[in-house]
Amino acid sequence: MARPADVPIPDSPESPYPIKTGVCEIVCGFGRGSAELGIPTANVPFEELPESVGGLPLGVFFGFARLQKSAPKEARNMQRQDGTRVHFNYGQRLTDNDLRVLPVVLSMGLNPFYHNKAKTVEIHVMHKFDHDFYGAQITFTILGYIRPELDYTTKEALIEDIQTDIQIAEKALSSPEYAKYQNL
Ligand SMILES: Cc1cc2nc3c(=O)[nH]c(=O)nc-3n(C[C@H](O)[C@H](O)[C@H](O)COP(=O)(O)O)c2cc1C
Repeated sequence: MARPADVPIPDSPESPYPIKTGVCEIVCGFGRGSAELGIPTANVPFEELPESVGGLPLGVFFGFARLQKSAPKEARNMQRQDGTRVHFNYGQRLTDNDLRVLPVVLSMGLNPFYHNKAKTVEIHVMHKFDHDFYGAQITFTILGYIRPELDYTTKEALIEDIQTDIQIAEKALSSPEYAKYQNL
């Protein structure tokens, strides 16, 4: 399964990991994750992450996250540049099952395939949700690094690599030395 750019994953988290974030707000990304890739991601503002994240390489990481409902505010709708509408429900439809500590893969960087101008932090929660949760909050712990971000000639190649990232993360997070961070 190893790909040329993969970084070997140690048997347990090594410095600077684990990196635990504070509570971050889930904002609106470009919306391609769900629509184009079939891999939904929760975007959080880079500025809300701890300072130590600034020293990390750009690329793909794994860890655990927990979602939280946010105090209901007035309903907010946003329109993306491509015209699609985003409804902020602040996580009010999340169930107890969705609010457990869940495994994640996350991408931090400029998404060279999409030529983004600003750094984004996108978290794919490895769990089946029945509803969106824009405006909810997320706290997460980064436990390791999988690979640098890459450019691709096709969308299919990007999707295939993200699927492999998910398998690598699942395997690492199920080993006892990583799984214990689920409870910390
Ligand atoms: C695990 C994971 C790995 C990713 N790796 C890359 C990558 O190597 N190169 C890249 O251009 N984008 C990568 N992405 C980012 C996707 O391109 C991104 O999720 C997509 O642009 C959707 O973003 P949006 O929902 O803000 O539109 C990755 C995303 C995830 C979740």
